[in-house]
Amino acid sequence: MDSTFVQACRRGSTSYTPVWYMRQAGRYLPEYRALRESHGILDICRTPELASWVTMLPVRRLGVDAAILFSDIMIPVAAMGVDLCIDPGKGPVIAEPIRSRVEVERLRPIEASRDLPFIAEVVEMLAADLEVPLIGFCGAPFTLASYLIEGGASRRFDHTKALMRDDPETWHELMRRLADAGIASLRAQVGAGASAAQVFDSWVGTLSPAEYEEHALPHSRRIFEALVGLGVPLIHFGTQTGELLELMRDAGADVVGVASGTPMDEARRRLGSGVALQGNLDPAVLLAGWDEVERAARDVIERAGAVPGFIFNLGHGVRPETDPDVLRRLTDFVHEETAK
Ligand code: CP3
Repeated sequence: MDSTFVQACRRGSTSYTPVWYMRQAGRYLPEYRALRESHGILDICRTPELASWVTMLPVRRLGVDAAILFSDIMIPVAAMGVDLCIDPGKGPVIAEPIRSRVEVERLRPIEASRDLPFIAEVVEMLAADLEVPLIGFCGAPFTLASYLIEGGASRRFDHTKALMRDDPETWHELMRRLADAGIASLRAQVGAGASAAQVFDSWVGTLSPAEYEEHALPHSRRIFEALVGLGVPLIHFGTQTGELLELMRDAGADVVGVASGTPMDEARRRLGSGVALQGNLDPAVLLAGWDEVERAARDVIERAGAVPGFIFNLGHGVRPETDPDVLRRLTDFVHEETAK
């Protein structure tokens, strides 16, 4: 029988609401910080024994209903031949930003068995060892393109939007290549045993609905169309996506990840009952006292309502300052509260 998490993704009824946390395998865990003293993040991602150990760290500790593969959205991009590193506190940094047709054409197509052999290896290890389903993931083309074009993290995405508007052919070619890389990576993850796949379009909320529809949606949709035959639930997440939720749903995933800015009842009203929802406790709330965490968590649960097809999560990733014991208490609280 399917796990509670997969059943909820499929909008089946479950005996309690399943829980996992974006960035549950990260710096708020002392064991992870200790490992990072001797290993770079990309090394950990590419070493199956280490990546599998980190993936499992939060599972027992937090009592969550799903694991998420320890990797990064930039791993397939590096395999395409891009020279990059990940700066603690900043995120991905690209040695030579990509802004021209010639640079786009230098990006190599990925063949997972040749370019990402460690992915199948770590997923196979995890699928054999985990007691909960494993979520595989990739970055959506827009979010990956924004790192490549800006050269790193950005607030305004000026270079990204300039390329998108001034040279749509180069833009769409870049987006096609990044979507292909995501498809190759997710096929490898699901082929090796991942039970669900999440596409992170973390920064796409910077686009207007019209821009999203023209410049990003067709490429994200192609990822979901390519994966739908694999038979695992597909999840689509972004932040600041209040205006884009309906379009993101239309891209074709089974589950829409809702960020903290949109109340769950509003998301449900706008998206209808034909899609499962995931989210959306504000991760900053976890830095407040327990009473406030409990109040905010109960609010999310009440707004999600009794409709089948809800997965409790945060509205974005766990902050490094979060106390793991608070997350554990939160998991237990959601399980108890929703089992009533
Ligand atoms: O439990 C998990 O979710 C861990 C697996 C994971 C990582 N990155 C490991 C990581 C996942 C799912 C990601 C996805 C990812 N990477 C996204 C989409 C999710 C999101 O939060 O929006 C994005 C935008 C990236 C790019 C990236 N990599 C960022 C923005 C950062 C953080 C920079 C920082 O230091 O604050 C990274 C680095 C990174 N990836 C860390 C982890 C655990 C922390 C850095 C470290 O260990 O030095």
